[in-house]
Formats: sequence, structure tokens, C-alpha cells
Amino acid sequence: MSSTNPFKDQSSSSLTKKLLRCILYALLPLALIRLYFYPLTPSLSPTNQFPHTKPPIITTTATATTFTSPSPPSSKEHHSSNTETPCDYSNGKWVPDKFGPLYNGTSCGTIKDGQNCMSHGRPDQDYLYWSWEPKDCKISRFDPKIFLHFLRNKHLAFVGDSMARNQLESLLCMLSTASKPELVYNLGDDNKFRRWHFKSHNVNVSIYWSPFLVKGIEKTEIANYNRLFLDSVDERWASDLDKMDMVVLSVGHWFLHPAVYFYGESVLGCHYCVGQNYTEVGFYDVFGKAFKTTLETIMERRGGGGGGGGGGGSDSDSDSGKGIDVVVTTFSPHHFEGEWDKLGACPKTQPFKEGEKQLEGMDAEMRKAEVGEVEAAKEKAKKFSRIRLSALDVTKLSLMRPDGHPGPYMYANPFANGIAERVQNDCVHWCLPGAIDTWNEILLDVMKRWDNQSRWSGGR
Ligand SMILES: *[C@@H]1O[C@H](CO)[C@@H](O)[C@H](O)[C@H]1NC(C)=O
Ligand SMILES: *[C@@H]1O[C@H](CO)[C@@H](O)[C@H](O)[C@H]1NC(C)=O
Ligand SMILES: *[C@@H]1O[C@H](CO)[C@@H](O)[C@H](O)[C@H]1NC(C)=O
Ligand SMILES: *[C@@H]1O[C@H](CO)[C@@H](O)[C@H](O)[C@H]1NC(C)=O
Repeated sequence: MSSTNPFKDQSSSSLTKKLLRCILYALLPLALIRLYFYPLTPSLSPTNQFPHTKPPIITTTATATTFTSPSPPSSKEHHSSNTETPCDYSNGKWVPDKFGPLYNGTSCGTIKDGQNCMSHGRPDQDYLYWSWEPKDCKISRFDPKIFLHFLRNKHLAFVGDSMARNQLESLLCMLSTASKPELVYNLGDDNKFRRWHFKSHNVNVSIYWSPFLVKGIEKTEIANYNRLFLDSVDERWASDLDKMDMVVLSVGHWFLHPAVYFYGESVLGCHYCVGQNYTEVGFYDVFGKAFKTTLETIMERRGGGGGGGGGGGSDSDSDSGKGIDVVVTTFSPHHFEGEWDKLGACPKTQPFKEGEKQLEGMDAEMRKAEVGEVEAAKEKAKKFSRIRLSALDVTKLSLMRPDGHPGPYMYANPFANGIAERVQNDCVHWCLPGAIDTWNEILLDVMKRWDNQSRWSGGR
């Protein structure tokens, strides 16, 4: 892996790899999920299914010193008690919604082929007509103009794996109903690094491929495991941090792969490391550490000293006061009910009813690791005035949508030649349009709350 930023390294190969390659990227984790989790009882977590010793305690004293900075203006502290309690987005239910999506599979040009369920012949349409209703707040229907308004003169970056891309493409489709974006940059096989520009609001939206957020060497045919360096971020995205105003981080499924974990000079252990002399440590702790390193690096580089507020909101900030907003999209559950290449691997066409499905096992553990690190980072960020953090807590609401995946419609017209027993299914990613559009509705809600909050605090 090269640690250079591909947005700066235009000379690298920009060949788009064959479709087969993309499908392999998508399906390998699926096969692994099958392999690792299905022979086990649901309550058994991967961290305790193997002989397990705790990894060495990692000291963070080296980075901790960088968090000392001037305390924020007292006015901000005074007013922060006025800020409304945030909404618990995970507590709610799906309710029928007669309006349906803002876009369709033909009106939006940026949908990845495998997720364009409409144009691939998915016959049922009910999955398009639901909206998420949290118990203690109301999410408005997505308004692309308001979203673009908040982002005026700013750069929003999605960083992560194919789930980040899924969410980004949903957002682009919804935004493009108000203003057409222009693709201004595209590099890497399978469109891994891209940037769009919305001329109407001078907004940039981009995606950076980084399935671990931290430095990682993806597995090859020779070394069939990933190598993760948990103490340093992946500079392919992080070297652009000074040019970002808002970052959405979305990773998870790649942590299920076999991997060896490094921290500085030492090896913490490995996951599913057949034939290697390392200790199995699972991946939940490792997942948390990857987020810890990521969030602390963002704070170090972009936290700033004094000044007011975060990155969103008013346009009048001078360069000296530029902040950053950080959103962590929590783990997205899959819905395989059987083998991934068998007919009917995720056959449901309706959401689960309230109470029908509990958040548990891997989904719960992954979400917990992310939310925990965001909360820890929020504590530390109190020292900084220019950084705002939020978890986009979509794990539960997504768990309730077994009907939202492409399933066999990851390919066009999969049953054109009759129904076969064996058909490949994607029960991990989400159809566009579909349930994942809700994630961006909530993202806009988070931005509105931040905006309200900064008005109260008199920050900007
Ligand atoms: C998709 O949306 C476009 C633009 O709004 C519209 O013209 C077209 O009829 C829609 N197609 C379908 C199948 O709904
Ligand atoms: C958008 O990206 C272009 C480079 O592609 C850059 O010149 C411009 O300053 C960026 N604008 C914003 C608002 O980030
Ligand atoms: C595995 O590592 C331990 C401790 O580092 C060492 O004592 C042992 O010989 C190693 N075993 C193999 C098969 O390499
Ligand atoms: C923002 O504050 C206003 C006034 O207090 C309130 O009416 C509105 O609901 C708030 N919006 C959000 C998203 O919290």
C-alpha cells in the first residue's frame, strides 16, 4: 500500500478494474461472515470464541500531551447548558410513508450498479415507502437545499469502505434533485477516490477509500490476511484533513477479515490467524482502537486553540477560525438468513416490527465500540473549540430493515432465465433508493442541531 494521498498523486494508475474484481471485494467479507458467525450461537461473540488473552495495555501518553490547549471562552461554557438533549435515533420504529424516495434508479447517475435495485428488476416496491420515527424527536423529510446551505463553501468527505460509498451515493442522489454535481476527480480501481463539486453552493463532496481508517495493508493472494497499524491513521485520507470541513467515517465489515494487528513496534495479536504464532484477540477491541487513533488524530490536527464553534453553519468565518465536524456512522448489520449464494438469502420485503428484533451479538458490539470512542472523544474535545463530534447511530434502525438489501438484484434481472437454486446475494449493502436514505436524513438532523447549538452558544 502506498501512504501517499491519491488526490495528490495523479500519476498513479487510474484503470478501472473489471466488474468481477468489484464483486469479489463486496463478497469476500460476506463469505467470511458466513464462515465465522453462523456455526455459533448468536450470543457467542468472536472475542470469546477463541483462546483469548488481553492485548497489552496501550499507553496514550505520547498523544495525550497534545490535548493541552487554551480553555474555550467562558461564554461558550456558560451557554452549553442551554443546548437541547440530542435525539436518541436508535429508539423508534419504521412507519409507512406515502411520499417515497426523492429519486429513482434512472434519475440518479451515481448509483453503483450492484445497488441499483430498481433498474435491476427488483419487482416489489414496498421497501421504498417507510420512514423512521424516533420516539423522542421528529426527523424531517430530507431537504437537499438546506443540506447544501449548511455546506456552502465547504468540503464534506466520506471516509471508509463500501458502506461509506453506499451512504455517499444516497446523499449525492438526493442532493442532485436540487443541484447537479460535477464529478471533478476520479482515481483508483472501482472508483475509490472521487470528488464532486456543486457549483450552486460551492460545495465539494468526496469519498476516500480507507476500510480500516488506520494504516493498513490489504491482503493479497500471497498474504491472505490484512495488516493493520493501529497507532497511525491512513494518510491517503488524513493528509487532506486540513482541507475538510466535515468528515463522515464509516467502516466495519473489513475488520472481520483475517488480520495481524500492530501497535508501534509490537504485535498486539491477530484475528483468525491460521498458521501464525500470534494470539487471537478478536476484533472488537481493535475496532475501538482504530477509531480512537482516528478521532485523536483529527483532534490533534484540527482541534485548534480558541475561537468559536465548529465547521458547519455560518459562512462568515475567516480561515483562522475554521473548524471541523466529525460524524461516525455506526455499524450496518447484514441480513443473511442462509448461504449467501442460495436462493432467498435475504427474502424479506417488509421491515421488522417494533420489538421483533433486538440489537445483539456482533452488531451490538461493533456499535458499542464506535459510540464509546465518539463519547470519549467528545470529552477530550471539550478542550477544543473548533471540533464537533456525533455518532450517526443507524445500527438499530438498519437492523430493522431486512427488506432493504439488493439480494439477488445485485445483478440485473437475475431470474431472466428462470429461477435457479444458486444465485449470488448481497444482503449487506443497501438498495438505492431505499433505507439508507434515512441515514442522510438523520445526518441533516445532526447538522440542524449543531446549527441550533452554535446559535445558542453565540459561537458564530
Ligand atoms: C424517475 O425520475 C425521473 C425524474 O424525476 C422521472 O422523469 C421518471 O419518470 C422516474 N422514473 C420512474 C420509473 O419512476
Ligand atoms: C473544491 O475542490 C477544488 C479542487 O478540486 C478546490 O480548488 C476548491 O477550493 C474546493 N472548494 C471547497 C469549498 O472546498
Ligand atoms: C511461538 O512464539 C513463542 C513465544 O514467542 C515461542 O516460544 C514459540 O517457539 C513459537 N512457536 C512457533 C511454532 O514458532
Ligand atoms: C432549533 O431551535 C428552534 C428554536 O428553539 C426549534 O424550534 C427547532 O425545533 C430546533 N431544531 C432542531 C433540529 O432541534
